[in-house]
Amino acid sequence: MKRLLNKKTLADLIVDAADGKHGLKRTLGPVSLVLIGAGGIIGAGIFVLTGHAAAQMAGPAIVLSFILAAVACAFAGLCYAEFASMMPVSGSAYTYAYATLGQFVAWIVGWDLILEYTLGATTVAIGWSGYLVSFLRDFGIVLPEAFTSPPFNYLADQHSWIATGALFNLPAVIIVILLTLIIVTGIRESAGLNAVVVFIKVAIILAFIIAGAFFIKPELWRPFVPANEGPFGVFGVSGILRGAGVIFFAYIGFDAVSTLAQEAKNPQKDMPVGILGSLVVCTILYVACSLVLTGVVPYRELNGPAPFAVALDAMDLHFFSPMLKVGALAGLTSVILVMFLGQTRVLFSMGKDRLLPPFVARVHPKFRTPYIITLITGAVTAVLAGLLPIGIVGELVSIGTLLAFVIVCSGVLVLRYSHPGATRTFRAPGGTVTPILGILTCLYLMLGLPQDTWIRLFVWLTIGFVIYFGYSIKHANKKKSA
Ligand code: ALA
Repeated sequence: MKRLLNKKTLADLIVDAADGKHGLKRTLGPVSLVLIGAGGIIGAGIFVLTGHAAAQMAGPAIVLSFILAAVACAFAGLCYAEFASMMPVSGSAYTYAYATLGQFVAWIVGWDLILEYTLGATTVAIGWSGYLVSFLRDFGIVLPEAFTSPPFNYLADQHSWIATGALFNLPAVIIVILLTLIIVTGIRESAGLNAVVVFIKVAIILAFIIAGAFFIKPELWRPFVPANEGPFGVFGVSGILRGAGVIFFAYIGFDAVSTLAQEAKNPQKDMPVGILGSLVVCTILYVACSLVLTGVVPYRELNGPAPFAVALDAMDLHFFSPMLKVGALAGLTSVILVMFLGQTRVLFSMGKDRLLPPFVARVHPKFRTPYIITLITGAVTAVLAGLLPIGIVGELVSIGTLLAFVIVCSGVLVLRYSHPGATRTFRAPGGTVTPILGILTCLYLMLGLPQDTWIRLFVWLTIGFVIYFGYSIKHANKKKSA
C-alpha cells in the first residue's frame, strides 16, 4: 500500500528544502510574508463582489458573511500553517499532499491549483483592465472597445456564447506581461513591488473606512439581517450563507504564502505568521469596509461592479473616486503578482518531482527564479486574460481553491495519526477538530457553487488524469516510501 501511494517521507522534504545552493533565494522575512499574503488577498473580492453580495443576498449582514468566510479560511489557514511549519519547501498544498496522501493525490492538488492560481490571475487581470478603462475615462481618455473586451461573451442563463465584436483585452494582456517580467527578475524585486502596492491599497482602504465612519447612518443597518424573501439565499440566514460563498473569493490568496516557503529566511517560524497574520489583517479590513458600505448607502443600491464608488458618491466625496480606483488597481496588481508567484512555485515543485518535464524546474543562473515556467505561465495567462470573459473563470477559481483546502485539511488529519511525534513548530489548536471543521466548512461552500462549475471542475480533473497516467506516472522521481 505504501509503495502504491509512493509518498515522500518528511526526510525527503527536508532534503529538498536544504537543497538551496543552486535553488531559490531565501530573502523573505515575516513582514514580507504578511505583505505577500495581504497582496494576494485584497483585490476583486472586496472591491467588486461585496456590493453584489450585500445587495442581493445578505444586506448589512454581509458583515456576518465576511466573518463566516473568514472562519472557514481560518480552519484551512491553521492547517496550512501547521504544514508549513513542518515542511519548509516550495509547492504549498501540492507538497503537503505528496507527503501525506501520496503522489496521485499530489498530482490532483497540483493540477487543481492551476485553477486557483492561473485562472485566479486571469480573473483579476480582466478585472484590472475594467478598472483601468474606468479610471482613464474619468480623465476623458476613452480606450477603444475593440481592444478592451474579449471577442466572445458567455451568457450563463442561456448557456450560449455570443460574439462581442471586440478583438481582445489589451490592458489585461499588458499587465500580465509586465508582471511576468518582474517575477522573472527576482523574488526580492517581486516582494518589493508587492510591498509598495500593498501599502497603497491598504492606505486607500483605511482612508475610505475613516472618512466613511463620519457618514454612517445607523438606521441603514436596521434590520441588520433583512427577512428572507422566499428563495434560499435571498436575505435571511440563508442569504448570509450564500453571501459567504460568494465573498470567499475575497480571501483567496493567503495560501499563496505557503508556496514561498523555500524563499523564506526562517520558514518554520515565519510561515504561520505570514499565513495567519495576513488573514487576520484582511478580515479586520473587510469587516470595517462592509460596515461602512452598508452604513452609508441603502444596501440595495450597492449592486454593480463598483460599490465603493457608489458609497463615495453617497458621501459626496467625488474627488476621492479616482484615488479609490488607483487603490483598486494597486490591489488587483498585487493579487495577480502573488497568484502568479504561487503558480510558478507549484509548477517548479512538480517539475522537480518529474511529474512535469524537468525543464519546468530550471532556475535562472543569475536571477535564481524558475524563469522558463514563469515565462510559459505568463504567456498562457496573457492569452487567457486577453480572450476570456470574467464570468466564466471566477467560480472555477473558488471551487479549485476549496478542493485544495479540503485536501490540505485532510493531510493534517492524516499526519496527526501517521507522524504524531514529528516536530511541529506550529500546531493547529483543538486536536483533530480544526482539520475536520476545515474539511466540512470548505465542502459546504463548494456545495453552494453552481452545477456548471462542478462540471467544469470534473472536466479539468479528467484532463489531468490523462496527463498523469500518460506521462507523469512514468517519469516521476522514485522516492522512498514513508
Ligand atoms: N482574494 C483575491 C481577490 O479578491 C483573489 O481578488
